Amino acid sequence: MAPQGNMLQFVLPPQIGDYEFAWLKLYGPVYRFKGCLGKNRLMVSDPTALQYIANSPDFELGPTLDSLVHGLDHQQLRAALNVGFTAAAVRQYQPTFEKVAQTISDKLDQSEALSIDVCSLLSVAAFDAISEVVLGCPTENLDADFVKINLDVMHLSSSQSASQILADAITGFLPRWLRRLAVNLPTKSSKLIRTQASLATREGRRAVREKIEAARQGLDPSDDVYSLPLNSEDSKESLSTEDIAGQTSIIMIAGGETTANTLAFGLVELAKNPELQDSLRAEIHATLSNGRRNIAYDNMPLLNAFIKEALRIFPTVPFPERVAVQDTTIPLSEEITLKTGQRTDRIPVRKGQLVMLGIASYQRLESRWGDDADKFRPSRWLDGTVHQGEAIGPYANLLSFSGGPRTCLGSRFAVMEMQVILCELLGKFSFSLPVDHVLRIRFAATLQPVDATGNKGTPLCVKRIL
Ligand code: HEM
Repeated sequence: MAPQGNMLQFVLPPQIGDYEFAWLKLYGPVYRFKGCLGKNRLMVSDPTALQYIANSPDFELGPTLDSLVHGLDHQQLRAALNVGFTAAAVRQYQPTFEKVAQTISDKLDQSEALSIDVCSLLSVAAFDAISEVVLGCPTENLDADFVKINLDVMHLSSSQSASQILADAITGFLPRWLRRLAVNLPTKSSKLIRTQASLATREGRRAVREKIEAARQGLDPSDDVYSLPLNSEDSKESLSTEDIAGQTSIIMIAGGETTANTLAFGLVELAKNPELQDSLRAEIHATLSNGRRNIAYDNMPLLNAFIKEALRIFPTVPFPERVAVQDTTIPLSEEITLKTGQRTDRIPVRKGQLVMLGIASYQRLESRWGDDADKFRPSRWLDGTVHQGEAIGPYANLLSFSGGPRTCLGSRFAVMEMQVILCELLGKFSFSLPVDHVLRIRFAATLQPVDATGNKGTPLCVKRIL
């Protein structure tokens, strides 16, 4: 139950999962390992345990996230903002996603390069989608400093170093009041994050004021994420302009790279597997031949199986952290053997214990996904292989969007954005691997693809076919 390894091996291996997935096979779905300065971390990928930790008031966000997200009545805010993320709301964003997807096609058409870094194209597209759908305006109408700082934050998160991980771990030792002060330290990353938050709030405030003014003038309300709560009878009572504007920073950070990188990993899998690519393209062409208006993306079995498989194998938030806020006991779905040889189906933990929600490991458990759990195989979602039963996350029985009260607010938004972009790109282009293709996956705030030079990106050969 206690591997001979440490936090740096876990988070910064040569290839993500080198240690994590080996330890999963060796030690099972619950084990402890040493974090920085010898502090124990409990790694959990047992489904019952994950469900318990994600939903129980005995656990809160881990110290790194907690120092960024504070000062809000989380549940109240979530309930009010959710109006902009329901299935009905997200359906209204479809034309905007289609416009963003068309822009990627135009850029691919204009490129004469032999191979193109699809990752950076998708990052820009994901930013455009959030700008249009959340703030209600195209990226070019946003403040230039704000656009630049979001790119800078992206670059910062692409360069997670051993010292940064050590700094995060040390922050975890500090009492909560001191951790919050630590965010105000004059380090490069703290300054960048503070500036992004302040520019995002300013931009959010501007967007909210424009919407309030439009409503005052009797103009038709828009259907974007910020307009919907402002115009909903239930939400407008409980939300202030500042409450809404204050969410801009976290939405920009949480919604962009996660979606873009999942898509980039998915395109690499398609480039590796021309047969799968052809089958998916056939489904897309058959659907689009009925007309491009009101496309029922949810009724495309292979497309949705492919998206689920991309989320399963490449969960871009692979191990979020929680901390026990009181002594508690975590239930397990199956008995495990302790170092003493004793068998148990519950793990007692002390207040202050750091726990990693092993989303990536859970999604490779052979007991849950079969002997080929490590293999990228979308057909598992169509041939009855996937375990049916209690769903522990909001989408399929995946945990890529986490679970419980902190579940990703934008999961439906992300799924529809991916459906639309994949249909547009695969409908018109074929993707293949360049001869010298290398894909390394690293964790730096999110899972991200890294090219042969060690930079974030994944070049693919792209050919227009229609
Ligand atoms: C494939 C794409 C995405 C993935 C894999 C993903 C994953 C996640 C995960 C795992 C969490 C919870 C982290 C934790 O438990 O510590 C989260 C939270 C969140 N996500 Fe996403 N996300 C995605 C896309 C989006 C999009 C498109 C948006 C918005 C436009 C968004 C908005 C949020 C917000 C606001 C939270 C914080 C929720 C809260 O604290 O209540 N996400 N996301």
